[in-house]
Amino acid sequence: MAAAGTDAIDVVIMAAGKGTRMKSKLPKVLHRLAGRALVHHVLDTAAALGARSGVLITGHGAEAVEAACGAASGGNRGLPLQVVRQEPQLGTGHAVQQAVPVLRDDGLVVVLSGDVPLTQVETLRALVDVCAGDSLALLTLDLPDPTGYGRVLRAGAGDDAQVLRIVEHKDATPEQRAVREIYSGIMAVPARLLKGWLARLDNHNAQKEYYLTDVVKFAVADGVPVRAHRITDEVQVAGVNSPLQLAELERAYQRRLANRLMEQGVRIADPARLDVRGSLHCGEDVAIDVNCVFDGKVVLGNDVSIGANCVIANATIAAGAVIHPFTHIDGEKAGVTVGEGALVGPFARLRPGAALGPEVHIGNFVEVKNSTLARGAKANHLAYLGDASVGERVNYGAGSITANYDGANKHRTVIEADVHVGSNCVLIAPVTLGAGGTVGGGSTITKDTPAGALSVARGRQATIPGWTRPKKRQ
Ligand code: UD1
Ligand code: MG
Repeated sequence: MAAAGTDAIDVVIMAAGKGTRMKSKLPKVLHRLAGRALVHHVLDTAAALGARSGVLITGHGAEAVEAACGAASGGNRGLPLQVVRQEPQLGTGHAVQQAVPVLRDDGLVVVLSGDVPLTQVETLRALVDVCAGDSLALLTLDLPDPTGYGRVLRAGAGDDAQVLRIVEHKDATPEQRAVREIYSGIMAVPARLLKGWLARLDNHNAQKEYYLTDVVKFAVADGVPVRAHRITDEVQVAGVNSPLQLAELERAYQRRLANRLMEQGVRIADPARLDVRGSLHCGEDVAIDVNCVFDGKVVLGNDVSIGANCVIANATIAAGAVIHPFTHIDGEKAGVTVGEGALVGPFARLRPGAALGPEVHIGNFVEVKNSTLARGAKANHLAYLGDASVGERVNYGAGSITANYDGANKHRTVIEADVHVGSNCVLIAPVTLGAGGTVGGGSTITKDTPAGALSVARGRQATIPGWTRPKKRQ
């Protein structure tokens, strides 16, 4: 038989199991690690492997899992995806049997599980190389406590000893249970061979299940080489069965990511108190204090400093900017940009479309949404800027707000350069404040204000001399 090409990889992802121990309505593979569903990690790895297609086996929570993977439109993670339902779930062998009708004969099948999120693509590449298109390649590793796993039984000791079969924990004798080398649940095998072996599976075992792992003994019987690729990194094959395991894997993932960032020179106050749930790109001399969460795509320029307890999502922060503690930035789709040398926080909130120029200052309890602030503009205390264009050097007083919403539509406020807005002003949009003008504190501005003038719009102060307060009735 011709060797199956390693450039024609079809990935089968088993994701039909129930995940009883998660004790959750959400199907297990949709629980999130680093902000992404477990199955998305697996699909992304398969895409990175350059697989030509993926076959997702669904069962429990099938509709939700399929929707999350964009099954109706052929996949949403850079990998053409087909879905096959397994109902009822009669074991891993039965799961892969369901994929047979849609698997092409000329390919190399890599079997993965939807609940094993942290396998590295290099590991799968190595497994595919070991398979070499003509053998059954198993990813294995030694565990100090192999309880529950399938054991790899060999003809003798050592890596070179021939693999004879895999025995599941529940079917194993005490001697077999003493074997520490376990099967990870990941294999690579030519489709043509796999299909033949799947047709021969039975469920005569302790769990009355069709075991995928029984293909090993068929390979041996057929004289097809079985090659184990033994790795040492447990995290790569660790599955998620419980909230505890999910949290442990999350930490393992975050720790690795923090280590990579520190290797690049990022100063992380405590790598155990950092969470990156997307991509974080850092320039030189970036410092990140404790308990920060980064989500989506975040870019930090050179010399950026992030204070403790900040949550930052979908934002680009330019060189030298300082984000003080407890700041919440979420650019969602529109993004947030913070200019060079800007100061933000503590306790600031930047929402989608906030675009701060260089040297802008945004202070405590200031909210900015869909607004641009030009160089040097300042809003230092207790303020709201929504749908506004703010010119250079504008000073926006404490307690002032743009009234941008009339109950039906949003309107823009334009504040030209060098305007000084006093404290506690309401700017009723649409409105334009002319360059260099001043708005007296407490004004409600409903009409455009001229450049260079003082505009005041509030009740005049009145004085009633000798006025006596009402007295309390007896
Ligand atoms: C399986 C292996 C075992 C290996 C272990 C590694 C078998 C028989 N045993 O055991 O040798 O050490 O993985 O983690 O393969 N699934 C389905 N349909 C089913 C059953 C399972 O889709 O009918 C899915 C599950 O959702 C899961 C994956 O297959 O994603 C593995 O199933 P699981 O029950 O965890 O396998 P184990 O019995 O632990
Ligand atoms: Mg099982």
